[in-house]
Amino acid sequence: MSKKYSRIISTGSYLPEKILTNYDLEKMVDTSHNWIFERTGINQRHIADENESTVDMAYEASLKSIKKSNINAEDIDMIIVATTTPERAFPSTAVLLQNKLDIKDCFAFDINAACTGFIYALDIADKYIKNNSINNILVIGTEKMSTLVDWSDRNTCVLFGDGAGSVIIGSSNNPGIISSTIGSNGNYKDLLTVNPDSDFIEMKGNDVFKIAVNTMGKIARETLDQHDLKIDDVDWLIPHQANSRIISAIAKKLSLPSEKIIMTVGNHGNTSAASIPLAIDYAVESGDLKKEDTILLEAFGAGFTWGSTLLKF
Ligand code: COA
Repeated sequence: MSKKYSRIISTGSYLPEKILTNYDLEKMVDTSHNWIFERTGINQRHIADENESTVDMAYEASLKSIKKSNINAEDIDMIIVATTTPERAFPSTAVLLQNKLDIKDCFAFDINAACTGFIYALDIADKYIKNNSINNILVIGTEKMSTLVDWSDRNTCVLFGDGAGSVIIGSSNNPGIISSTIGSNGNYKDLLTVNPDSDFIEMKGNDVFKIAVNTMGKIARETLDQHDLKIDDVDWLIPHQANSRIISAIAKKLSLPSEKIIMTVGNHGNTSAASIPLAIDYAVESGDLKKEDTILLEAFGAGFTWGSTLLKF
């Protein structure tokens, strides 16, 4: 029997209608467009409506990826949702999404690895396809970060946004996902966290910045070395979109030209687990990403958690 691989067969995304610009934030906290843009590369972020949940956003993104694929919703065998902002503690966002998509014969669950959640979910999807009789997996990152943000705290409220991105992973005879690495270290639990007393995000921004750059630079280098690849062999780096300065610092460490980076943080802000699938779909829709391109995905988040995926699109 020939070897089975997993591959992205389609992508989709959803961004809420409401846009909050840096200029809007100037009216809410003591900040300025220049301060935010110079330090983060963020211009604006989308903010979900009060009645719009992570399930609703995941549903819209899923419909798009299903439409763009050659399968029907009922062909989906498994749903993995990466989120830190579930609509309910239970049932999981994935099961609520299964219900909304009206898929009867399927299993579904959430994972929480903060901003690395989508990479964790892809890793799980890849292993299920390679080891089991599963053919089609819907993998989503969906976040309503606006509910975790203290809108009077200028240190954090300028950074985050809402949205959802989805991919359908199918089985293939040719390599799609080539390798995947994930990791975590709980020693850093208090540097970036939701404070259990306030239920709001708290962060030591400077420390997070430095560790994020070093960790993502290191795992990217290790992933390339493991596969005897040079940076020139990579067509696109699609990193977690937290801050354009973090992304540029990683690119510099890797000697990767900026033309090979998909950058959406300017328009989306940090959408946590949704940021990478949103960026992938953006790259597909803008015509940048082509079939057979070699892509390196990378993420870093609270925990700390981190991960990378090397794949052929
Ligand atoms: N507008 C204006 N001033 C602000 C501000 C804002 N929105 N937020 C913070 N400041 C102030 C601070 O209060 C501080 O003032 P002080 O010196 O009087 O105390 C000053 O700006 C410098 O703050 P500092 O934290 O040193 O700035 P920085 O250059 O490190 O930038 C971040 C702050 C948050 C943009 C940066 O640390 C960062 O991006 N970190 C990574 C965050 C991240 O991406 N997290 C998610 C990873 S998944």
